[in-house]
Amino acid sequence: MSDFQPYFTNDGSVGLYSQDFDDIYHSASGALTEAYEKFIYPINWEVLLNHDDIKILDICYGIGYNTKSFFNYIFENKKKLVNLKKNIKKNNLNNSNWYGAIYTNNNLVDNPQIYNDTIHTDNIYNKITVTAIDNDEILFGLSPFIKTGVKNFKNNSDILDKHDINKYLNHRNKKIPKINDLINFQILSKIAQNSPEILQNPLILSILNNNEYNRYFKSDFKGLLKHILTNRPNSKKLLNLHNIYYRYLSYSYKRGLKRYKIQDFDFSIKIDDARNVVKDDKNLYNLIFLDAFTPSKCPCLWTYEFFKCLYKIMEQDGMLFTYSSAAQIRSAMIEAGFEIGNIYNERLNKFQGTIAVKNKALINHPISEADLGLLKTRAGIFYRDENLTAQNEAIIAAHKTEVDNSHRISSSQYLKARRKNEL
Ligand SMILES: C[S@@+](CC[C@H](N)C(=O)[O-])C[C@H]1O[C@@H](n2cnc3c(N)ncnc32)[C@H](O)[C@@H]1O
Repeated sequence: MSDFQPYFTNDGSVGLYSQDFDDIYHSASGALTEAYEKFIYPINWEVLLNHDDIKILDICYGIGYNTKSFFNYIFENKKKLVNLKKNIKKNNLNNSNWYGAIYTNNNLVDNPQIYNDTIHTDNIYNKITVTAIDNDEILFGLSPFIKTGVKNFKNNSDILDKHDINKYLNHRNKKIPKINDLINFQILSKIAQNSPEILQNPLILSILNNNEYNRYFKSDFKGLLKHILTNRPNSKKLLNLHNIYYRYLSYSYKRGLKRYKIQDFDFSIKIDDARNVVKDDKNLYNLIFLDAFTPSKCPCLWTYEFFKCLYKIMEQDGMLFTYSSAAQIRSAMIEAGFEIGNIYNERLNKFQGTIAVKNKALINHPISEADLGLLKTRAGIFYRDENLTAQNEAIIAAHKTEVDNSHRISSSQYLKARRKNEL
């Protein structure tokens, strides 16, 4: 990352802007709200809860809102999900070994005191594996330090549009999402454990120590970082990190730690072009979050060939979510074998984004006939990247040539003809 440009988005969470891509990383109307609305609320939980071990692929992890929101959601809704899971299992006797699962908490098992404190009998998943991909190491390193949720955001002068805040407050839940710090702590420990070199990057340290950015970072986490850096992390030292964190937390945090513990959580960090990771990946994912920059800026992560790779690594009842509803993205998904549907945004009462699945039964909001017709126009000509190695500029140029030479009608001609027929 050559520039770090944070700001508060309209739900009070921190968003970033990229000068290189001339694009925002997060919706200015609310980074955290967007993560929930595009990637978490549309999950079909009845399907996901059928699995005891789940795998999540977070493509374009950035500062981690989608992964963090997933964990936050399951902890915030734990009771509801545990009951839902019990009912699913009751109705499905062939698959009844989830309840009373053996706890193999990676983080806390070495410490009997903490372990005993945190054990309890209900569990939603035995194991959650997250594979997080981003080609920007700095963002990975900064992600656990980002403040997620600003208490007095109403008075925050950085917020762009007060009108939007009222919309959130008037929404029936009147609830601004917030990520629990304990989730950030888990992510920090995983990074320290699996990729400690990231945290030693001088650019990360200079950003974290720059006073100009203080209000975007959690100050107490910086103390933890100091501890990590002075004790080169190994499993023993990490245990120590847990002890320090545990001691230094207040009682209510300790209670929270029970609630927010992640039983068996694997966090695999891939600092690479997402194409390199998915083309050799042998996993099968239950959830795929695709949060790349907009297709016109970063087409390499929206091509037919890229979707073909994603199709191969998705479980039969897996779900892929993305914020884009663009015709060329949807036609690339269909060409790659996916069934697609709309994502419904309850707050705004409109469709936003796309869900791609293998099993059509998982689609709750099918694409309208009009939108499907649009895929056959020039707007539906998808990006190509045969060897998964082309530069964005080359993909854009080849796409433009294909569109210019196409005999398909344009989207505006199509829409005009449809309107005429409807009259
Ligand atoms: C829209 S932002 C994602 C925001 C992120 N989900 C979050 O919660 O902060 C897009 C991300 O894509 C990453 N990126 C851009 N090109 C990439 C590529 N070819 N492979 C992997 N990551 C890429 C950028 O570093 C950036 O973090």
